[in-house]
Amino acid sequence: MQFELPKTPTPIDGCFIMNLEAHGETGRGSLTVAQNSPEFPLKIKRIFYIYDIPAGAVRGGHAHFKMNELVVAVTGCVDVEITDGLKHHTVTLRHPGQALFLPAGIWRSLCRFSAGCVVLSLCDTDYDEADYIRHFDQYIKHIRKQ
Ligand code: TYD
Repeated sequence: MQFELPKTPTPIDGCFIMNLEAHGETGRGSLTVAQNSPEFPLKIKRIFYIYDIPAGAVRGGHAHFKMNELVVAVTGCVDVEITDGLKHHTVTLRHPGQALFLPAGIWRSLCRFSAGCVVLSLCDTDYDEADYIRHFDQYIKHIRKQ
């Protein structure tokens, strides 16, 4: 029997790529801004970034109960594999002016980092280990309950 993807929206449809506010100046390079505003998709409370990532490393591998996140490849490129347990996509981030919005409840893994890649995350909560779902079977149980 063939598995049919749901035609109605599922949580993964809440993910999107957005262009950040950019100020390029001829001959002086580019400057990109992320700041809280009514139009911004989350209220920035915390940032972190990952770097010095060895070849073949995979980061993420979890979902969050409450935290929304914007992910930016500030340098280099990275594949972000996302799923909501029903559908999955791979999004390649390769431009510092673009951000991937991941709402709470999306399972994500970051892989295939280019050499020297730096990935910035903008989050709307403080760090809280209790907000992580770190096991995929626990994640599937969680989304089935919803
Ligand atoms: P984790 O979120 O699992 O990283 P990744 O998703 O990139 O694999 O975090 C790795 C470790 O860093 C873990 O021990 C928790 C710690 N950490 C903090 O203490 N504060 C933070 O804001 C973050 C994001 C992680």
